[in-house]
Amino acid sequence: MKTLIKNGRVITAVDDYVADIFIDGETITTIGKNLEMQADKTIDAKGKLVIPGGIDAHTHLDMPFGGTTSADDFRTGTLAAAHGGTTTLIDFAIQSKGQSMIEALDMWHAKAQGKTAIDYGFHMIVTDFTDKHVPEMKRMIHQEGVTSFKMFMAYPGVLLVDDATIFRGMTVAGDEGGLICMHAENGVVIDEIVKRALAEGKTAPKYHALTRPTQAEAEGVNRAIQLADIAGAPVYIVHLSCYDALRRVKEARDQGIPAFAETCPQYLFLDYSHYEKEGFEGAKYVMTPALREKWNQDELWTGLRMNDLQVISTDHCPFCFKDQKELGRNDFSKIPNGGPGVEHRMSLIFNGGVVKKRISLNRFVEITSTAAAKIFGLFPKKGTIAVGSDADIVIFDPEKKVTISAKTHHMNVDYSCYEGMEVQGIAETVLSRGKVIVENGKYEGNPGDGRFIKRSTVDLVPIDRKGGHYQKYLSDSTMSAESKGSKKEVTIEPYARV
Ligand code: URP
Ligand code: ZN
Ligand code: ZN
Repeated sequence: MKTLIKNGRVITAVDDYVADIFIDGETITTIGKNLEMQADKTIDAKGKLVIPGGIDAHTHLDMPFGGTTSADDFRTGTLAAAHGGTTTLIDFAIQSKGQSMIEALDMWHAKAQGKTAIDYGFHMIVTDFTDKHVPEMKRMIHQEGVTSFKMFMAYPGVLLVDDATIFRGMTVAGDEGGLICMHAENGVVIDEIVKRALAEGKTAPKYHALTRPTQAEAEGVNRAIQLADIAGAPVYIVHLSCYDALRRVKEARDQGIPAFAETCPQYLFLDYSHYEKEGFEGAKYVMTPALREKWNQDELWTGLRMNDLQVISTDHCPFCFKDQKELGRNDFSKIPNGGPGVEHRMSLIFNGGVVKKRISLNRFVEITSTAAAKIFGLFPKKGTIAVGSDADIVIFDPEKKVTISAKTHHMNVDYSCYEGMEVQGIAETVLSRGKVIVENGKYEGNPGDGRFIKRSTVDLVPIDRKGGHYQKYLSDSTMSAESKGSKKEVTIEPYARV
């Protein structure tokens, strides 16, 4: 199949020009002015933006969590993503305690197999990491194309791992070119506050937010960054929600520490006041981290503009209001944590970012696609429009307005966090590896069109941080006391050597 896209305004993270794009099979083969090649299909993109397909680096499809399972599976979730202009997502496989990563990966492959509308990859959620798991992590990275691993400082008794485990994971991932993605929130302290609130009869949804102070997130972010720096490894903070946490990332980056972070539309457009809605409505917004006070939103936009935040993902983890959020009607801590969002990420960020003049068009593409491709080992196959790249392309109408509603969305969930919000800018035609899968809002693909993508390793650690302080310590019995504020050399006994 040969496809020619004519006269579109091509926007990448760095380019902005009008051109034609010729696609042969799955790949972009020619970009130029007035191309006159024979094609099976010609798309007129005059007046439209032609952008790389969106990459959502954080979704939870068909995930058992909070006593139930997220409402979108790999069929409905990827279909909804496609409608919104997202052509790749990276979901999470979960290694349960006592399980091997290989087994976990097989389980998630089986969940996705034959169902997806778009391409996908997996991060591995690690809940167990001892010496015996080291070869498994290496296999994930070098053979299975799973090059990133999520660890949790939150959800004690469920997903939380201790600092020693985190540090071990970071050291191995760092050495092997992998990346630890951190859910950075002090879950142990949060659980204490939750217990206190429940003992005082505070059971309404708003207590989800009131028991999760921003300091708990900031502490987690800071700890994750310091541990990664000691290990000489990069770290990626997931779903960063507030200024307290952002400040820690910014400080680290200013020092040259390879710390990266994503935020999500919910933290840019929704705020604490949503928990104070009538009755049990606030349960719709029970997600972790919680929605914060509104003033944080401007700080997050600044972080996006200044590259202290690199990526916008959704943390799409939907639970139906009627049957699933209901589990916590009498106890906010039993409300399944998570919200829907995979479908409207591109439109929300275009509207809130570009239309509202907070970010440029190039930056829009960068934070919704290119940066995730680079950080997670998909670039330049994904994340850009270039000769040789996969033809994952969105013809985006920058003028058209739509009103978001659960009545019209494609996600398998009975509410929208953005119900009634009008957004300008929508994905009109979506191509996944050269195949038109959405045209004028209509799905033209088939479940199973999407393919698992093995991701590469990415060198994210600057040379002067390679090996980290920890490695220096282990390999050298003399350590400059400079870091202790003195110029004097001190000798310390190493407890191990590498
Ligand atoms: O509330 C959330 N974020 N649910 C999904 C699990 C997670 O922590 O990412
Ligand atoms: Zn998380
Ligand atoms: Zn998540």
